Amino acid sequence: MHRQIFSFVIALCLCAHWAIASLTSTEIANALNELAQQGFAAKDLVLEINSTSDAGPLRDVYTEIDTIVTVVLTDISFITNTPVITEEAQEQVVYEGYSNFVQSLLELMDAFASSAGTLMSLDHVSKYKVPAEVRVLESAVDAYFYNIISLFPGNSSYNAQASNQKAQVDTHCYEAIWAFDLEEAGPGRGNGSVQARWLARGSV
Ligand SMILES: *[C@@H]1O[C@H](CO)[C@@H](O)[C@H](O)[C@H]1NC(C)=O
Ligand SMILES: *[C@@H]1O[C@H](CO)[C@@H](O)[C@H](O)[C@H]1NC(C)=O
Ligand SMILES: *[C@@H]1O[C@H](CO)[C@@H](O)[C@H](O)[C@H]1NC(C)=O
Repeated sequence: MHRQIFSFVIALCLCAHWAIASLTSTEIANALNELAQQGFAAKDLVLEINSTSDAGPLRDVYTEIDTIVTVVLTDISFITNTPVITEEAQEQVVYEGYSNFVQSLLELMDAFASSAGTLMSLDHVSKYKVPAEVRVLESAVDAYFYNIISLFPGNSSYNAQASNQKAQVDTHCYEAIWAFDLEEAGPGRGNGSVQARWLARGSV
């Protein structure tokens, strides 16, 4: 009896291992495009809150971001087992999905940055909650993008372009965080701000 259960568990593990062995380029691209849809949906909600001054959907924005983070962290384990893509057409498919997700993140961060004042006046918690969400999202996406980029051959233009876009996402995330931090700190209190600390990092 116990032995049977044991064998069953081993079989399950083998199955799971088989499943995470690797992903096809189409599966990776589909995952990226679904993530992009979540990103665009979150952005639309932020813009809606900003224009209607109804903070209700803010909870949904956090939920969307948490979902993106969960999916991204799950996908990383699959992608680390996927070999470098050698076919140009497949690189193209993955790159298009990647660019799509990048674009949604850039727009989401810009929406946060330009709505920071409204969001904080509607809901005081957003002053801490949004930057915290953005930080978690940024670090999950950073690891995810790193793994996706490594699927492109090192000498391919996809690799170079994807690395460039990854850096842009980082910058826009910091700009979104600064927008909340600066509103809180106010002008002239630059030393306490994330921006000042981030800029100081280079000289420490
Ligand atoms: C959000 O609302 C503020 C104040 O009404 C406005 O200045 C800003 O441009 C809006 N942001 C977006 C992205 O529409
Ligand atoms: C990249 O390098 C591989 C082998 O090292 C070569 O076959 C391929 O043509 C190169 N691709 C580009 C875009 O330079
Ligand atoms: C920031 O801190 C430095 C010393 O660490 C000080 O010299 C400077 O005046 C401060 N700037 C502001 C705007 O408080």
